[in-house]
Amino acid sequence: MQVKKKQRTDVSRESGSISPHTGRTYSPKYYEILNKRKDLPVWQQRQDFKGILSTNQTLILVGETGSGKTTQIPQFVVDAGYTGNGKMCVCTQPRRVAAMSVARRVAEEMDVGIGEEVGYSIRFEEATGPRTFLKYSTDGASINSCTKNPSASVGLFLRGNPILMGYFMCSD
Ligand SMILES: Nc1ncnc2c1ncn2[C@@H]1O[C@H](COP(=O)(O)OP(=O)(O)OP(=O)(O)O)[C@@H](O)[C@H]1O
Ligand SMILES: [Mg+2]
Repeated sequence: MQVKKKQRTDVSRESGSISPHTGRTYSPKYYEILNKRKDLPVWQQRQDFKGILSTNQTLILVGETGSGKTTQIPQFVVDAGYTGNGKMCVCTQPRRVAAMSVARRVAEEMDVGIGEEVGYSIRFEEATGPRTFLKYSTDGASINSCTKNPSASVGLFLRGNPILMGYFMCSD
């Protein structure tokens, strides 16, 4: 799927005021960031994306730099209900710093705690918890976690640009 060029969007419609992830009212900062997110090119195609995702096991998504692949697509995956019940969306990044900083940004965008609902996993540092449904990770740390904890390693795997998306499963 090809992400189209940026167009203006209607930002007047807000989502519900209670976060389904925390049960708390969204902060003013959440809405401030949400309006910026709605201006990103991928936002225009989130419904198309969810439709294509639901009918394909593998999806290659191409979008220009800054269009929202790394920060938005995993959130669309979460919104579409693919996570929970032990399933996690894992997005790999080439560098430790990138994994950490994008996780912090996405936690802020979702109005959740870093290391709680959204986390990261890099060598020597695991910032995740029992409630984590979205994790940014280096390639190495992802492979490590599959090897060490095969039963928990079922999730959605997103990588690079174009984003290559598919389920991965590790087993003994
Ligand atoms: N830490 C941050 N603080 C503020 N804005 C950010 C931050 N990280 C990303 N953004 C904004 O989010 C937008 C989308 O970023 P994202 O990393 O998802 O793009 P991308 O499509 O993955 O780009 P690339 O192809 O370069 O990886 C950026 O254009 C930028 O405006
Ligand atoms: Mg990216």
